[in-house]
Amino acid sequence: MSEGLQVENLTAGYGKNAIVHSVHLKAALGTSTVIIGPNGAGKSTLLKAIFGLNKVFSGSVKIGDRDITGISTDKLVSLGMAYVPQTGNVFPSLTIRENLEIGGYGEAKHSKGQMEEVFAIFPDLLKAAKRPAGTLSGGQRQMLAMGRALMSNPSVLLLDEPTAGLSPAYTKTVWEHILAIAQTGKAVVVVEQNATTALTLADWAYLLVAGENREEGPAGELLSRPDIGKMFLGH
Ligand SMILES: Nc1ncnc2c1ncn2[C@@H]1O[C@H](COP(=O)(O)OP(=O)(O)O)[C@@H](O)[C@H]1O
Ligand SMILES: [Mg+2]
Repeated sequence: MSEGLQVENLTAGYGKNAIVHSVHLKAALGTSTVIIGPNGAGKSTLLKAIFGLNKVFSGSVKIGDRDITGISTDKLVSLGMAYVPQTGNVFPSLTIRENLEIGGYGEAKHSKGQMEEVFAIFPDLLKAAKRPAGTLSGGQRQMLAMGRALMSNPSVLLLDEPTAGLSPAYTKTVWEHILAIAQTGKAVVVVEQNATTALTLADWAYLLVAGENREEGPAGELLSRPDIGKMFLGH
């Protein structure tokens, strides 16, 4: 595969401590990939390492054939990667429109077209465009955070627990948007605690345990494995 995201042998962590060890992950354009695993498995650390936010000890991260390991976050955005952290992903005192403008990259006129695309995916954001983001519900805020990340028109979108704290109904709504975003040709990589829902809907899945790859495959296949269900999904 020469397009999308490719992570090979990535060892990364904080300070002198490696948290994820020789991890590999691929995410093709036009697909959704979910990363599941117990609390503390290193899922967030992996996403941050991919986005250049913590220390990479060895291994590589590529977008297509381009090696982007260790490149600054600003540059990564210009090369087509976007990341939405689990919390603190919108500016509460700014309006929805202002939040989206901040996410824009490049020329203002380009940004305007991009905003229209974001509003087409998230019509609710358009309705509330003038409201401060702080007045949104948790689910709407996650939509805004995703919308903001889309403003730079990334080919690779990384989402850390976009459904944390949401109701099952809203979790499904967020996932419907994730799938719609993937269908526009992007590689969407999602860390999820709501593993059953995610495995039902995503294309491909990775199970990370203690900072290492444990399982991977078509998401539905992992979901139907009795051993995975019992140990990691509470089935
Ligand atoms: N900023 C940090 N500094 C040092 N260690 C951290 C930091 N953030 C997380 N860790 C450690 O990394 C490990 C994995 O955490 P994390 O990647 O957040 O797991 P997950 O997202 O799978 O729950 C944990 O042991 C955690 O204590
Ligand atoms: Mg996490």
